[in-house]
Amino acid sequence: MLIDSHAHLGMPEFDRNRDEVIRRAIDSGIELIFTVGTDIGDCRKAIEIAKGNERVFAIIGIHPHNAKEVDEGTYPDLRALSREGKVKAIGEIGLDLFRNLSPRDVQMARFRQQIHLAKEIDLPIVVHARDAQKEVLTILREEEAREIGGVFHCFSGGYDIAKSCMDLGFFISIPGTITYKNSVELREVIKKIPLDRILVETDCPFLTPMPFRGKRNEPAYVKFTALKLAEVKGLPFEEVARITSKNAKKAFRLDEELI
Ligand code: NI
Repeated sequence: MLIDSHAHLGMPEFDRNRDEVIRRAIDSGIELIFTVGTDIGDCRKAIEIAKGNERVFAIIGIHPHNAKEVDEGTYPDLRALSREGKVKAIGEIGLDLFRNLSPRDVQMARFRQQIHLAKEIDLPIVVHARDAQKEVLTILREEEAREIGGVFHCFSGGYDIAKSCMDLGFFISIPGTITYKNSVELREVIKKIPLDRILVETDCPFLTPMPFRGKRNEPAYVKFTALKLAEVKGLPFEEVARITSKNAKKAFRLDEELI
C-alpha cells in the first residue's frame, strides 16, 4: 500500500474521469491520496473531493503563483475551510522564483502569513520551493515553522538543502522526476536521505514518471516513483511502501486515526 502525498485532483485535467482516476488508484494499492488546493476555489473543490472519498484527504492553501490574488477575505475563508475534518495541512505554500507569477515580495508576505495561519490552527504545512530553497528555509527558520512541521514537496535540491529541511523537522517528498534518465544528481541526494524522512508523491496531473512521461499523471503512478526509490535505496519495494506510508501518516498526523 502506498500513499500519494501530493495530488491536484481538482484540476480540470481530471474533470473528464476524476472518479475513475481515484478508483484506479485504490484498485492498484494506493491507500490514501492527499489532494492539494491552490486557490480558494480549488481548496473548496479539494475538500469536496475528499468528502466524497474515504481515502482522499485535503490540503488547502494559496500557491505562490496565486499569491497576488490574495485579498482581505482570503484568510478568513482559509481559516473557516481548515475546520473541515478532512483538511490535514496548509499548502502548498512557499516561493516560486522560477516562474515568478506573483511578485517576489508578495510571495514572501503570503508565505509568512500562511505559516502564521497554520500555527494558529495547529496544522502542518506543505512547502513549495522552486529556485528559492535558501529563501524558503530562511523564512521557515524565522517563522519557527519547526513547531508545526510538515513536508517539503517535490524535492529537487542538493543534500545541504535536504539536511536543512530535516533539521527543521520536515519530511521530504519525492516526485516522479526521480525516474527520469537525467536525474542522476537527484538520485545521489536521495540515496543519502534516511528513508524515515521520505514521502512519495505524484504532483499529478504534472511530472508524470517513466514510463508514462508525456501523458497526464495520476495517483496510481506513484508506484513508479516508489519502485525507483526502492532501486535507489537498494531496498525491497514492500519496505519502501510501508515506511513512506508510515511517514506520510506521521507528517499529516493521522497516526492515531489509521495506524
Ligand atoms: Ni503541487
